[in-house]
Amino acid sequence: MSSEKDFSEIVSGLAKKRGFYWGPSPEIYGGSAGFYDLGPLGKLLKNRLENVIRTSFVKANFWEVECPTVSPEIVWKASGHLDGFIDPLTKCTKCEQVYRADNLVEELADGESLKGLSLEEMTSRIQELGIQCPKCKSELGSVEQYNLMLKTTLGLDQTAYMRPETATSTYLLFRRLLTFFRDKLPAMVFQIGNAYRNEISPRQGMLRLREFTQVEGQIFILDADEMNWAPYEEVKTETLPLLTYQSQESGSEDVQKVALEQAVKKGYFQKPAYAWCVWLAHKIFSGMGFDDSNMRLRQHLPTERAHYAADAWDVELHTKSFGWVECCGIHDRGNYDLSRHQEFSKQKLSVKVDKKPVVPNVLEIAFGVERPLFCLIDNCYDVNEKGEVWLRFPPHLAPIQAAVFPLMGKEELVGPAAEIYHDILDSGLVTQLDQGGSIGRRYRRQDEIGTPFCITVDYDTLEDDTVTLRERDSMQQVRIKRSEVVPVLHQLVKREITFSSLTT
Ligand code: GLY
Repeated sequence: MSSEKDFSEIVSGLAKKRGFYWGPSPEIYGGSAGFYDLGPLGKLLKNRLENVIRTSFVKANFWEVECPTVSPEIVWKASGHLDGFIDPLTKCTKCEQVYRADNLVEELADGESLKGLSLEEMTSRIQELGIQCPKCKSELGSVEQYNLMLKTTLGLDQTAYMRPETATSTYLLFRRLLTFFRDKLPAMVFQIGNAYRNEISPRQGMLRLREFTQVEGQIFILDADEMNWAPYEEVKTETLPLLTYQSQESGSEDVQKVALEQAVKKGYFQKPAYAWCVWLAHKIFSGMGFDDSNMRLRQHLPTERAHYAADAWDVELHTKSFGWVECCGIHDRGNYDLSRHQEFSKQKLSVKVDKKPVVPNVLEIAFGVERPLFCLIDNCYDVNEKGEVWLRFPPHLAPIQAAVFPLMGKEELVGPAAEIYHDILDSGLVTQLDQGGSIGRRYRRQDEIGTPFCITVDYDTLEDDTVTLRERDSMQQVRIKRSEVVPVLHQLVKREITFSSLTT
């Protein structure tokens, strides 16, 4: 197995070669870091992940909304992003290369961190540690704040920003949503849309993007409901893989499988409704192909929390490329957001409780789609001793769900193969008709892009109306009736049956 660092290049190499993603974009002009294009297979894969996400939120009683991606400056002043959405930067005094001070220290000084330090303290710490510009070995300048929002202009001169999260744009709808929900809380909404972060020098490819698709579920909720939350009662005996901040402070990376109700009892989660949000995030990521062997929930250290968060946990996924990767934040935002927007907009963003105005709280699940997309490709990548590559996507997530091959390019075989291809397509699955090269080569091509099932039409098909159905992972084949192809594929893709049940 190659080293950790090389592995991300191997994954990206395959992704580029087979049309999952390309970049940095625009490639023909040299590329801008942090921007990627999705190729045809990457777009199909992303659509599948978004389907899982959308279905999970809808089943949990969330409603979807969509808002503009640009908002005037006052919105970001109110949200706190203008003052608080910042990275600490340091510039080389000689070559002027700019670095994120916190990342630089973590990369170059083993076990050191700038978390929780003021700008002056960060500057002194860098000097004490003797850290110099990695490029030209000169002295680094003092640490300064840098805002991560992308600035733009509306009309001639109105300053505006591309949204760094979808959440804020959802909060601006509160009064409208309240009417939609007939003045009843809790109200649950989600948004899937693009967000922008002007990272100073994004590396790690698809993991750190300046433009990405963000998914954010929001619950507008009152104190009493947070402590008395019916959906929590239904799932409270289920376990989650938790890494608490107490464990982290004692230097442990050990995950404990804890039932939700135990986690609430022990105070890992303060509120049942918040615990349920963590459970829902875990469920969404399970649907996206991850399980407790490569997923954990990590509590933020108090110094790590965003400016709006009262409590925060992350979903982290394990990759062969980068180890554990933060992929989703679950935030207890209190009533910070609505209070601030009430203050700045001078509009009433409260509800009446016992005849008194109360500004509701917000619980949030927030993540980008591109990170789980990369992690899934990384996790599903497999190679044998001959160097043959497989992407072992779960069938419900594979970009192409079934490929159809005529054994040879003869008209009498191509005709029925094309009919089967159209039947599969009409049934709502994504399929490909491939006539090029030997059958072995065609199987290899599909294995490499993760197609779980292949159907071959041969001369027996003309005799007895059967075809060969082959499973990617076991490479086993079974003959089934042509009329069964579509229903069997649907059952396999939905994991209602296993392939081995067809062979016995
Ligand atoms: N809305 C929270 C986040 O962007 O991470």
